[in-house]
Amino acid sequence: MDSQLGFIGLGQMGQAITANLVAKAGLRSPLVLYNRNRQRAEKHSSKIGHSLVARDLAELVSTCDIIWTCLEDEKAVCEVFAEILKLDLGGKLFVECSTILPHAMCQIAQRIQDGDANVVAMPVFGEPSMARKGLLVCVPAGPKSCVERIRPYLIDVICRAVVDLSGEEPAKSCLLKCIGNVLIMTTIEQIAEAHVFAEKSGLGTKHMASLIETIFPRPPHTVYSSNMVSGDYAKGGSIVGVAKARTLTSQILDLALASRTSLKSYKVAVDHLAVAEAHAGPQCDIMGIYGAVRVENGLPFSQGGCWKEHEPSGNA
Ligand SMILES: NC(=O)c1ccc[n+]([C@@H]2O[C@H](COP(=O)([O-])OP(=O)(O)OC[C@H]3O[C@@H](n4cnc5c(N)ncnc54)[C@H](OP(=O)(O)O)[C@@H]3O)[C@@H](O)[C@H]2O)c1
Repeated sequence: MDSQLGFIGLGQMGQAITANLVAKAGLRSPLVLYNRNRQRAEKHSSKIGHSLVARDLAELVSTCDIIWTCLEDEKAVCEVFAEILKLDLGGKLFVECSTILPHAMCQIAQRIQDGDANVVAMPVFGEPSMARKGLLVCVPAGPKSCVERIRPYLIDVICRAVVDLSGEEPAKSCLLKCIGNVLIMTTIEQIAEAHVFAEKSGLGTKHMASLIETIFPRPPHTVYSSNMVSGDYAKGGSIVGVAKARTLTSQILDLALASRTSLKSYKVAVDHLAVAEAHAGPQCDIMGIYGAVRVENGLPFSQGGCWKEHEPSGNA
């Protein structure tokens, strides 16, 4: 594999993906890393080896042929690309893995193509623990030849499967990611409700957890269920913070409204995110939906009593 790879954004997902690229992609030359917080990049680089940290975005872009981005949200992606688009992009291939809305991807893709470069939008499914194990599901869309160029870095490197939209406009995969978010949130909601029902009706969550693991043996159901039953959901921040999730989910509700789609069960999950944030603060994980369903049913937010209730700022 001769292309020089660079990677921008070393949060939970970026760290997991780059660790797998270094460990399993057989990269000839070191992976070039960039993160806004440089210390984070340096620490991660020494941990994974076979990588180096670029001085700035310009250095990374000028030295790499394939440039991946995995950033927090649309705002972060727009800010980073505002810098990148000032540079000479001729012949580069960008692989954008963040979760952003289709219209934002459309605008960025157009400007990248105007700069004589290519882009594959490749949102990913799977939370950080699955990303670390290389079990993501990747959804690439963009020119077929560009998707082929990155294919050697996908299955058995960073992901277990690909939902292949090659040949389609990049924004299509962002739309699929948004609609996939509806599946994820409503799955969390269903599992939370089943566990609360099991607890309140006297069955207990142990048997419920066994049933979930048996009927749905693969992630994400098993991951969500064990996160709830173990009480991990109440320890905060292991997947995505509720504040971030609420921004995205309200954008997705707007997208649904624009196509006159009614998403009643998604709305229930979104309302529970608000309850989770009110109880446990903005850093509370999205799995706090379970805590919200518990509260709605007269149970404490945390079943283990280990959660320190959030005190809204400005109340003192
Ligand atoms: N977590 C999940 O379960 C999951 C699952 C599937 C997809 N995703 C998607 O993957 C992407 C990354 O998620 P994550 O969980 O890795 O997020 P994260 O841990 O919060 O990391 C966010 C990354 O974005 C960078 N960043 C934020 N704002 C920036 C800005 N204005 N300029 C430059 N860099 C900026 C951060 O840099 P600093 O280190 O400097 O703050 C960090 O590298 C998101 O789009 C998310 O929706 C996440």
